[in-house]
Amino acid sequence: MAHGKTKSASSLLIKGGHLIDPAARVDALMDVLLKDGRVAEVAAPNKIRGAADEKFDARGLIVAPGFIDLHVHLREPGQGHKETIATGTAAAAAGGFTSVCTMPNTAPVVDSAEWVEWLRQPERGAVVNVFPIAAATRSSKGATLTDFRSLQRAGAIAVTDDGKPILEDAIMREGLVLGGELNFPVVQHAEDTRMTEDCSMHAGARSFRLGLRGMTAAAEASVVERDVQLAIQIPNARLHVAHLSTADALKGVRRGKRAKARVTCEVTPHHFTLTDEDMRDYDSNYKMNPPLRSASDLEAILAALADGTVDAIATDHAPHALHEKQMEFERAAFGITGLETALALAITKLHREKRIPLARVVELFTAGPARCFDLRGRGSLARGSVADVTIFDPKKKWTFEAAKSLSKSRNTPFDGWQLQGRVVATIVSGTIVYQ
Ligand code: DOR
Ligand code: ZN
Repeated sequence: MAHGKTKSASSLLIKGGHLIDPAARVDALMDVLLKDGRVAEVAAPNKIRGAADEKFDARGLIVAPGFIDLHVHLREPGQGHKETIATGTAAAAAGGFTSVCTMPNTAPVVDSAEWVEWLRQPERGAVVNVFPIAAATRSSKGATLTDFRSLQRAGAIAVTDDGKPILEDAIMREGLVLGGELNFPVVQHAEDTRMTEDCSMHAGARSFRLGLRGMTAAAEASVVERDVQLAIQIPNARLHVAHLSTADALKGVRRGKRAKARVTCEVTPHHFTLTDEDMRDYDSNYKMNPPLRSASDLEAILAALADGTVDAIATDHAPHALHEKQMEFERAAFGITGLETALALAITKLHREKRIPLARVVELFTAGPARCFDLRGRGSLARGSVADVTIFDPKKKWTFEAAKSLSKSRNTPFDGWQLQGRVVATIVSGTIVYQ
């Protein structure tokens, strides 16, 4: 994979850090030697013999496999005013992500091998790994499947019509059958849009008070139910539920997992941190799809993050320009940025407040997402793995300032939030891309 990298030391010794590598079942003080883009050695403190061109002092810090974000909107081709691959991956690096999976709802939609290849070209200026997710149907119109085989060959790691659901039963079934044959995950934006027309937030007491049409939890859960049923029936089908937000949808995912179907799901930091009641009146920085849900949905999501039902934390980083957000709530674009706040929100909310072990939090950013889309050689720092590393200080308190974001857009509800846990360095293929 190509990067916009400049210099590259051929070896880097990360010394004195606390390594958390859930896939390798390591949670201890360890030194890590990176060499020629791979993990050459992992050993107890001061036990690595080989010399290194460079050293990184990681005392007091957590050393983890490079974080993987399964759900990122980088807006190219076509919407570079919101974000470019260069700015979006710079924000990803600042957030500790060494790999991002990009969504195809661009202009045009990434529904051909040519566009998948275009996304991966070095000219795009990516500073972290870019794994394209291609459209599941032509122009994401939901009517005709794309050519999964050629998209996969071009480097796509999954397909989705994100932003919209794959609604038709026959199309979803056909997609899961073909995906099953190719070992290719189908990612579903679970929303029965026949039930959510003109809706701009979650349906509840708050939407009633604000006079806004609300999306019911059932509009999400019914699609998940249908899809899980298909995934159970179809041999080898791989279903991934994007940005799961409701307790009812979790029931469907649990049913699929119990039936040993290949069903995975992701949850966003905003859905494990905020509810519809936290929304400031008509502030479009709280508008995203799926919307912020009820307190009981949030509790169910926290339980599922802790108990292993949720496979990954994914940001759904969805940058929009000011003029696309600064208007009546109902007309404003759906989506918030998220790359630079994800880790700190996870540490603050999941680890500090809910006492979820740090190793589980790290798993949700590493081994979990790597498994969802079979990103081989990633998500672990076992010897021989790709030298993608995230180094962070779990104790560091800081204030997120949207104005200082490396993203091109500023649409976040977390501006000015005091958080704990900060990225110190992001390493891609052995090269420090953010420090
Ligand atoms: O909030 C959202 N923003 N949800 C989506 O499904 C699409 C995304 C976007 O592209 O902005
Ligand atoms: Zn979506």
